[in-house]
Amino acid sequence: MSNQIQWFPGHMAKARREANEKMNLVDVVIELVDARIPESSRNPVITEIINQKPSILVLNKADLADSRITQEWLEYYRQEGRIALAIDAQHSKGLKEINRATKELMADYFERQKQRGVKPRAIRMMILGIPNVGKSTLINRMVGKNRAETGNKPGVTKAQRWLKIGKEFELLDTPGILWPKFEDPAIGQKLAITGAIKDQLVEMQGLALSLIPFLQQFYPGVLENVYKIDAGSNRSAAEILTDLTTQLNLADDYAQAAERLILDYRQNKFGNLSLDRPAQNWQSVKTES
Ligand code: G4P
Repeated sequence: MSNQIQWFPGHMAKARREANEKMNLVDVVIELVDARIPESSRNPVITEIINQKPSILVLNKADLADSRITQEWLEYYRQEGRIALAIDAQHSKGLKEINRATKELMADYFERQKQRGVKPRAIRMMILGIPNVGKSTLINRMVGKNRAETGNKPGVTKAQRWLKIGKEFELLDTPGILWPKFEDPAIGQKLAITGAIKDQLVEMQGLALSLIPFLQQFYPGVLENVYKIDAGSNRSAAEILTDLTTQLNLADDYAQAAERLILDYRQNKFGNLSLDRPAQNWQSVKTES
């Protein structure tokens, strides 16, 4: 799976170089992020990499996110002047919107070409994003065949191939893969909670202790509903994790209870919840000490 990549500085430089090379070949870049964490799943230097190239910001996995918060994010990005869309690549929802937005972005260019007598050609696109946001899934769904490879690693040099999408579009067969933001611990936690970072590298209890206060604050009642425990705002994350461990008959295996909580989040047992929120100015998941 593609989230096994270890990002050392050499890999980052190489990934960046490869992304730049691909960028030179395309008309439009599709920047893919996870709708549950649109800011935390953006590459730190992506704006610089995309530079002046026409681009569309696509919030994928919208089926897992809180739709109200996704709308807030779309508004937020549109106010920033971005073309932003929410999709569910897994179930092929919203893909036509990508094609429509791409055509709109290129309309002026093709009109000018037409006036110069140049025949229109297919619009060339590429997908760019950090591991696990659904790049391979989106390529497969857009092309309609299982031709895109999963688990691409930066550093594997090969000829670029174009996949046809009807007559109007061509898509690079491999996505540009960039590294996630590691610097801010709260962002690292959100990436880990959503499963974007390999679980072996993650300390589940720490994650659970950061997720619990977030749920208490923004989604009150969900812990009570799912686990039948008292998770009122007067209770600390540690108390709640202890109660959960007891409730799940796990003796004092807090780590297992923590893992269960995180897996339940990923499987949407608490409903569709988003961890990044524009209204709170990307409020961090609070950590308990
Ligand atoms: P990547 O190329 O960016 O690394 O991501 P990839 O397409 O491999 O997708 C990562 C995981 O996210 C996959 O699940 C994929 O099925 C899932 N995914 C992609 N798009 C969506 C979406 O719109 N909605 C939902 N709910 N899931 C999505 P996996 O568990 O790693 O693999 P598998 O279960 O597909 O085997």
